Amino acid sequence: MNVLVTGGAGYIASHVIKYILVGKSNNFSQIVVLDNLSTGSKYITDELHKIASENDMKFKFYLGDVSDIDFVESLLDEYQFDVIMHFAASLIVPESVADPLKYYYNNVVNTIRLLDLAIKHKVKYFLFSSTASQYSNENVKYGDKFSEDHPINPVNPYARTKNMCENIIRDCSNAYGIKYVILRYFNVAGADIENRIGQSTPNSTHLMKVAAQTALGIRDKLTIFGTDYPTPDGTCIRDYIHVDDLASAHVCALNYVVKYNSSELFNCGYGKGYSVKQVVDTMKAFTGIDFLVEYGERRAGDPAYLVADSTKLKSLVGWKPKYDDISIICKSAYDWERKLLDLKLGNP
Ligand code: UD1
Repeated sequence: MNVLVTGGAGYIASHVIKYILVGKSNNFSQIVVLDNLSTGSKYITDELHKIASENDMKFKFYLGDVSDIDFVESLLDEYQFDVIMHFAASLIVPESVADPLKYYYNNVVNTIRLLDLAIKHKVKYFLFSSTASQYSNENVKYGDKFSEDHPINPVNPYARTKNMCENIIRDCSNAYGIKYVILRYFNVAGADIENRIGQSTPNSTHLMKVAAQTALGIRDKLTIFGTDYPTPDGTCIRDYIHVDDLASAHVCALNYVVKYNSSELFNCGYGKGYSVKQVVDTMKAFTGIDFLVEYGERRAGDPAYLVADSTKLKSLVGWKPKYDDISIICKSAYDWERKLLDLKLGNP
């Protein structure tokens, strides 16, 4: 299959591409990346190039914006893609509150344009990168798990744009026949287990990355946002999924949809929750560094509790996670931050 990956220089997409390039699935013949490098990294695309040539795979990177319809159309003409994996998006929640139009343009308008072109060019499958943060937190109690049919209630423009895109994709699939895979991510964390690629976005607010950077002295302290949540230790609980396991989930889910010519929605998480304090303590224990932690106010918009019911992904497509261990996730996040420091790319 020929695949177009939008946002392919970014964190999650680059791990999916690596997974494909190292031959974990033989269904792919050509990977084409379109990325404007606004948050993605040239270092990452260069590394993907190397991985492709080591594995004798066809990989091509184009610097460009998904909103540039003429350019995207020229790629669709040239490569006749079977699949589009659409990752390019804006994804910072506070920014989405301050500048919602940026999010409605970058996420919703660009998805509509891309879908329109995909349908016109008879692309068969559309994979969409979505979020678990659109699930409602009302009437949720500690120990519950969120299945795909859990009520939806996006509470910020970012989550709303992802939910709107999901509905648009479903409507287009019903009307025009394009098949979709929608993946709702829980908390993606860690880095490539071989430490070749990782999360490279500057100013990240991601807990695991902030913890690794604080352990390395790149930040002078870590603030825990809120200690009065209705959880056993008072801090928020999340389901942290290693990015390499998330990558394999993409390929398993896509292969299933291709095999059965169906459309599917999957939660991506392990089904285990860890509190912010547990993550911080694991990072401290693994590194042996007792970095400075302070306790602050709740961060606006944070749900207390978000843990996946990933039964569907495991039972339907046979996804078998390999790194379901919070220490492995912490270690890979730390190793990658140290590498960024060595490469002199290690800014907070
Ligand atoms: C993450 C994703 C979001 C996705 C959602 C799905 C990131 C940046 N955000 O949001 O896009 O839709 O999962 O579940 O990946 N925390 C601290 N101190 C810090 C940083 C974080 O206490 O310095 C806490 C937060 O308050 C939160 C938890 O750690 O309770 C996780 O935060 P974060 O890593 O930012 O992810 P989410 O906000 O859950």
